[in-house]
Amino acid sequence: MKDSQARTIYLKDYQAPDYLVDHTDLSFELDPHATLVKSRLKIRRNPAVAQANETLPPLWLDGVDLELLSVSVNGELLPVQRYEQRAGGLSVSIDTPEFELEVETRIAPEANTSLEGLYLSNGMYCTQCEAEGFRKITFYPDRPDVMSVFTTTIIAPATYPVLLSNGNKLDSGITEDGRLSVTWEDPFAKPSYLFALVAGDLQHVEDSFTTCSGREVKLQLFTEARNIGKCAHAMTSLKHSMRWDEEVYGREYDLDIFMIVAVDHFNMGAMENKGLNIFNSACVLASPETATDAAFQRIESIVAHEYFHNWSGNRVTCRDWFQLSLKEGFTVFRDAEFSADMNSRAVKRIEDVTLLRTSQFAEDAGPMSHPVRPDSYMEISNFYTLTVYEKGAEVVRMIHTIMGPEAFRRGSDLYFDRHDGCAVTCEDFVAAMEDANGADLKQFRRWYSQAGTPVLDVEDGYDEALGEYSLTIRQQTPETPGQKDKLPLHIPVTIGLLAEDGRPLPLDASGQTEAVLHLTEASQTFTFSGIASRPLPSLLRGFSAPVKLRYDYSSAQLQFLMQHDTDSFNRWDACQRLSLNSLQSLQQQYRAGEALQQPTALIEGYAAVLDDETLDPALVAKMLALPSAQELAEQGGEIDAAAIIVARTFARDAIAAALAERFLSRYRALEQHKPYSPTAEDIAERSLKNTCLSYLCAAGSAEALALAKVQFERGENMTDAAAALAALVEFGTEAQAEEFLEAFYQQWQQDTQVVETWFGLQSGSAKYGTLERVQKLIAHPAFEVKNPNKVRAVIAGYTMRNFTQFHREDGTGYIFLADQVIALDKLNPQIAARLVTPLTRWKKYRAQESAQIHAALQKISDSGELSRDLYEVVSKSLEQD
Ligand code: BES
Ligand code: ZN
Repeated sequence: MKDSQARTIYLKDYQAPDYLVDHTDLSFELDPHATLVKSRLKIRRNPAVAQANETLPPLWLDGVDLELLSVSVNGELLPVQRYEQRAGGLSVSIDTPEFELEVETRIAPEANTSLEGLYLSNGMYCTQCEAEGFRKITFYPDRPDVMSVFTTTIIAPATYPVLLSNGNKLDSGITEDGRLSVTWEDPFAKPSYLFALVAGDLQHVEDSFTTCSGREVKLQLFTEARNIGKCAHAMTSLKHSMRWDEEVYGREYDLDIFMIVAVDHFNMGAMENKGLNIFNSACVLASPETATDAAFQRIESIVAHEYFHNWSGNRVTCRDWFQLSLKEGFTVFRDAEFSADMNSRAVKRIEDVTLLRTSQFAEDAGPMSHPVRPDSYMEISNFYTLTVYEKGAEVVRMIHTIMGPEAFRRGSDLYFDRHDGCAVTCEDFVAAMEDANGADLKQFRRWYSQAGTPVLDVEDGYDEALGEYSLTIRQQTPETPGQKDKLPLHIPVTIGLLAEDGRPLPLDASGQTEAVLHLTEASQTFTFSGIASRPLPSLLRGFSAPVKLRYDYSSAQLQFLMQHDTDSFNRWDACQRLSLNSLQSLQQQYRAGEALQQPTALIEGYAAVLDDETLDPALVAKMLALPSAQELAEQGGEIDAAAIIVARTFARDAIAAALAERFLSRYRALEQHKPYSPTAEDIAERSLKNTCLSYLCAAGSAEALALAKVQFERGENMTDAAAALAALVEFGTEAQAEEFLEAFYQQWQQDTQVVETWFGLQSGSAKYGTLERVQKLIAHPAFEVKNPNKVRAVIAGYTMRNFTQFHREDGTGYIFLADQVIALDKLNPQIAARLVTPLTRWKKYRAQESAQIHAALQKISDSGELSRDLYEVVSKSLEQD
């Protein structure tokens, strides 16, 4: 394995830029094979680093895969001795502190399969510049602390009637040779990563929003003609987001126009380019017939997320990419609160915590573990991680919890005010929170620099004579690569105490029944007085910190919390603990070669939940969902894939059999006979209904499968149709699965998003033979290896979301993944590096699997030259040896 360009970049080496760019004037003459890009930059020496009587340093411009045509300074062609093209860019010698630089380059969008820079998607031109894609468009100081005003002219044949870029449209016309020409100007200085260009034959829907100060903003959503009927939900979500950011953060939109474009080929979910957000089609287009409830909710949150970046990311941006969580962690926190306000707060929290526990905890315990603010990287694209995003959001949430909402708002106001138009650091964010409130977050800052998931061990004691109850909490963070010794963190632990009758106990003289304990020491005891009898603690309410909490609850205590806790999140969490305990006993029984025992406590707990008509059905559905195999794998100790699968399947079947009548009666009661609407209430009902259906089909009766068939054929909305189809595929006969999958494909083959759902249903099937099916799907005419959504649906659907079949005993799943990664790396390094993740955890598995996974990783390593993206992940994973 080699990568000639692999080098490590360190945060400690940060240096301010030598030169600033005040104005960037771009012109594009679009052509699939030879797009001409001219840039004219007004550049000056950065006064912050200039010395008196200095010799001027050379100007460094990043540039990758570019054909350089010419370089001029102040209107004069520069002789070749004055510049040097090197790997990764261009060095220009400079003799004056202020000058105008003109560069002409040629690029080939058609040949660009990396989907960074300028590329083609279904014949439409589009760009993706974050983090370092702008250097694939033209030579430029492609770093976020160089902020410039941009003017962009796009010239294209008349077959591309829509030509878009950031900001306001200045001018449009027709060139002498009959091409269209449009000029855009973005008055807000921005880093190059926020640049965007789109050109195509697009339709749009339009709406408007009146801001809190009374300005009218034009809202436009562009897409290919066939998708124009799928824009309404995103438009509504956008207007809700704009209002929410005014109300909750006092943030008003700044331009007169806000555009969204949907593209089919996209590495991520969406991108917050100033005034011109570009979205993966799957994250913006929806109709009731074609999109599931999950898709509707995902669209709402991603539209909000990208919109919120206009302040947290664009107006105030990152100084360098080590500060990525400054914009991403904060913006994920903002979008999570938005979704919580629009829908069910508890359900949103449960979903986010589940993601954190299954995937972020795994990342933090693996070879790529890094702090929320990493201190080094080889390839920044590899650091758009769950740690930077989700743990980063938890860190912001903890500040919110520690300070309270009003103080947090004072802090965010000061942050936006103080740093508007600037490129800043995580430190600046924390400092604004402190300065606005006279608070001290000195110890709290360790959350940004220390990797690993802290473990809290809780013990309690009760002194009946004194009426005192005490909680002793110990914290400890495990070693992670490059970080051996860990310091105690400031951890907010929100708690409540429940009396024997289930009522919440007052915790102090003020009568508060909930408190935030500030754990700052390695071990600390908190005492509560005036407690008449031994209470049951409700710990880490709302998941107040991203930690693993251990407390020895009995099954009876967990069932008590499930019924009585006033914190909905903790009611769910108690149920999760009950499930985890049962599943762990079953795994032990399996490993010991014993007969598996009925999980009685779990069945009782589930029965009570199903009988409780007062509970939000969405919460019931979440409680009845067994922890995923992935989550079970994260419980510590060696991962025994077979034991996990056997235990989980056994528990599911036992529950399905024991509670079949209850599942059926709730299923019947929840059938909706009304038009589809993606409201929280309706989504809640559908989620519980489909959970019931799945258990009913798992129990395997012909009646249950008939119910699924009816629901599938009725096809009232995609949520119900897809859930029914999933149940039929999973629990029906092979012939039934084939029949319904084929019918579904026949109905929906023209719809890209539905075909992706159809792929995902098959790659995710726990049935034996899924690998063979996946191999066939790769040859299916609807599969496109150059389209990340298709790759994610078919390949990642199998390798990342199908624990059962990916870990099949013969190890062929691992080799399959290695081969796919090797092939993809040639086309799209970012996707290849993400796809390889399941192989990086080889060390955690039992000897046989571990050796198989390691061999697959080694196969990739031995396959020849790897991209920098893949090289970083594979080399760091093999280093654990
Ligand atoms: N800035 C990112 C998008 C991005 C990052 C694109 C790196 C390309 C490379 C955007 O704001 C983002 O975070 N999008 C998320 C969705 C969001 C809801 C967390 C995504 O694309 O997954
Ligand atoms: Zn983002």
